[in-house]
Amino acid sequence: MAHPFDMSRRRALQLAAAGLVLGPMSASAFGQAGTVQAIGQPMPRGVTLPETPPPAPTSDSVGIAIIGLGGYALRQMMPAISRTQTCHVAGLVSGNRDKALQVGRAYGVPDDAIYGYDNLEQIAADDRIEAVYIVLPSGLHAPFAERSFAAGKHVLCEKPMALSVAECDRMIAASERANRKLMIGYRCHFEPFNLAAMQLMGDRQIGAIEHIVSQHTYTMGPTSPATNWRVQRAQAGGGALEDYGIYGVQAALYLTGEMPSEVSATVTTPANDPRFAEIVATVESQLTFPSGAVADLVTSYDLPGRNEAVMRGSDGELIMRPATGYGGQTLRLIRGDQSETLTPGDPSVQFHRMMDHFAAAIRQDTPIITDAAMGRRDVHIIAATYAAAQSGQAVSL
Ligand SMILES: NC(=O)c1ccc[n+]([C@@H]2O[C@H](COP(=O)([O-])OP(=O)(O)OC[C@H]3O[C@@H](n4cnc5c(N)ncnc54)[C@H](OP(=O)(O)O)[C@@H]3O)[C@@H](O)[C@H]2O)c1
Repeated sequence: MAHPFDMSRRRALQLAAAGLVLGPMSASAFGQAGTVQAIGQPMPRGVTLPETPPPAPTSDSVGIAIIGLGGYALRQMMPAISRTQTCHVAGLVSGNRDKALQVGRAYGVPDDAIYGYDNLEQIAADDRIEAVYIVLPSGLHAPFAERSFAAGKHVLCEKPMALSVAECDRMIAASERANRKLMIGYRCHFEPFNLAAMQLMGDRQIGAIEHIVSQHTYTMGPTSPATNWRVQRAQAGGGALEDYGIYGVQAALYLTGEMPSEVSATVTTPANDPRFAEIVATVESQLTFPSGAVADLVTSYDLPGRNEAVMRGSDGELIMRPATGYGGQTLRLIRGDQSETLTPGDPSVQFHRMMDHFAAAIRQDTPIITDAAMGRRDVHIIAATYAAAQSGQAVSL
């Protein structure tokens, strides 16, 4: 098998041919705020709606409006919210009212708690809704967070927090003005295998961490920007790094427990491929940490599926494969000739535990682990990664 960092098997960067211009790292990496429209979509494939609505919420449960009824909201998060008592779906915001009415009836959301993108501001007067969960294309996170804060609601926002550091700053300022919470939907911080790995690394079970390899790749089927926001520059930024590679960036940071000091990177894009008319296909980056640890990260929409994190240290190795998925995680600790397979829990709890964490922050004012500073930090690293790829030089973080 070819080594993932064997550049010789890659095509040269063809940004110019693809019409892409990389901005400076302090500005937007790729996305352009304000140029994207929220537009309702059909019911995603593979959605199973509940046959009976969830039980009535307890008096202390936090009422949440879901903004954007796409695949992740309907397949993962709304079922997960039904499994917890700390919060409940109290409203829906969608550009497809028929779909929203159907979903609302299945989840026990009254028709008059269903809003559109054009009348989102009306949630300000709806006391059933204390918070919103933004599950929209990434280019819409910032404008909808700002509108939700202006309506006086707490915000849980999906990853990536936004497409530029400037957007993150506006979101943080809006959160502070409104005196409302802002949390980023980094579910792995609530997933038992990743939590166990963080603990093992913190306990120096493999000694000093020397090298991390993390790959988050898959081959995207035929598509084009006309039909798919994930390959639209304005909605998705550079593409795979913001959407999927962000898990590798996250893992490298939460497993080392360090902020990298610099990043170098290469991006690769095949010519004349409608999937990559506006985004890049593959990003290979290297993060260097003050301790001397190095992380090699690969993310791609154009490589066979991989989801893994491998940590090598002075005294051993920790292998997570898959590392950051919805389920199926494995964790192996190797020290000398000893190999131990660990099963610290059920990965599926990550979704509702994330919601419990958000609800606790609202009700009990507990600190948010996956806070806006973390979301902004990762957007900063992503922007620096593109800047490094553009310049061909390591960029200091
Ligand atoms: N944490 C995770 O594991 C995870 C996994 C997947 C996705 N996500 C994040 O969740 C967000 C949504 O991803 P998704 O996979 O659910 O996307 P999706 O299936 O394409 O759904 C996006 C939804 O956003 C709404 N929307 C508004 N304007 C749109 C536009 N111009 N183009 C397309 N959709 C538009 C639509 O809802 P209406 O029809 O109701 O208006 C659409 O169904 C992204 O930020 C993504 O990064 C996170």
